[in-house]
Amino acid sequence: MSVQLNVVPFVSVDKMMKLVLAIGIERFLSELAATIEEDFRRWHVFDKQPRVASHSADGVIELMPTSDGTTYGFKYVNGHPKNAHSGRQTVAAFGVLADVGNGYPMLLTEMTILTALRTAAMSAVAARHLAPKGARTMAIIGNGAQAEFQALAFKALVGIDSLRLYDIDASASAKCRRNLGRFGFDIRLCSGAADAVEGADIVTTATADKQSATILTDNLVGPGIHINAVGGDCPGKTELHPDILRRSDIFVEYAPQTRLEGEIQQLPADHPVTELWRVIAGEATGRRDGRQITLFDSVGFAVEDFSALRYLRSVLAGTRFFEDLDLLADPDDPRDLFGMLLRAGP
Ligand SMILES: NC(=O)c1ccc[n+]([C@@H]2O[C@H](COP(=O)([O-])OP(=O)(O)OC[C@H]3O[C@@H](n4cnc5c(N)ncnc54)[C@H](O)[C@@H]3O)[C@@H](O)[C@H]2O)c1
Repeated sequence: MSVQLNVVPFVSVDKMMKLVLAIGIERFLSELAATIEEDFRRWHVFDKQPRVASHSADGVIELMPTSDGTTYGFKYVNGHPKNAHSGRQTVAAFGVLADVGNGYPMLLTEMTILTALRTAAMSAVAARHLAPKGARTMAIIGNGAQAEFQALAFKALVGIDSLRLYDIDASASAKCRRNLGRFGFDIRLCSGAADAVEGADIVTTATADKQSATILTDNLVGPGIHINAVGGDCPGKTELHPDILRRSDIFVEYAPQTRLEGEIQQLPADHPVTELWRVIAGEATGRRDGRQITLFDSVGFAVEDFSALRYLRSVLAGTRFFEDLDLLADPDDPRDLFGMLLRAGP
């Protein structure tokens, strides 16, 4: 990468897509998952705080910063469930990785695609510790932008080869089946949530609605199932009936943030939950037995994005999958910023 001080490597959407395909989607997901696990094992080194959220009538804009003391990262991300009606993504993002020593950005990148990959990798990491052994069938309820990424991460990391898809918009499920056609899944389109959940070892909910919704009711959840709840990730935006939560062992990324944003906002603030890093580090038990209902109450935490940025930077070196961005003013004399401005004139 360039050593010119004004230049920051920039990964556009086009370069990101080409990079992911050059590496291979499943390999990218697996390596990203390994990076997330690595960072979750050194959880104590990270700055941690609930993300900074700016709520409005139709959505939320969030900043997600963290640092491991050497490197700093943040993501800008939105969540606007009605965006699809105007041709926009529900979730769009970009992010930065910076050197703590001098504060200079080292990487600027699109993170809409990277977020879908990291969310899926994170879910699959959780499922590796929580899902029933030998799980092969997953229901995905909500077949929008995140759905195929989730499917492939669970194929690569958990061994899922059979999918049961349901979306209130049948065209989303059809799109999902079409996109996943070449990946060797057995795919069934389902008529409702109850139909989708039948026979599934894992249920992923990835719907988008600004209000609290009830995608899954308690009667649909049988013993032994693992629930990967992705879509409930904002105050007032949940997917599961609270009775399900009371029957489940609940695993979260960072409890102070999840208590504000996750499914557990429906429970008393002292309801016991386990932070996933403790399971990954061997300090807490994941799945205990075949009848236990496990729930990964996913909201998306800054450390996962840091892992994604860190992984991205590691695979960029020596490739052509970035551009040089003239981002930082770099006068010959660092104090002569104004002189540099004048010299740019005619
Ligand atoms: N936990 C995380 O880390 C994380 C990361 C990214 C996105 N998300 C969330 O995941 C959700 C999905 O994101 P996306 O980018 O795929 O959104 P999207 O808008 O592309 O897709 C959402 C899909 O859900 C469907 N849907 C809405 N209500 C439904 C219902 N009641 N039953 C079945 N289907 C329903 C919609 O028709 C749509 O196809 C969003 O809520 C988003 O905020 C969470």
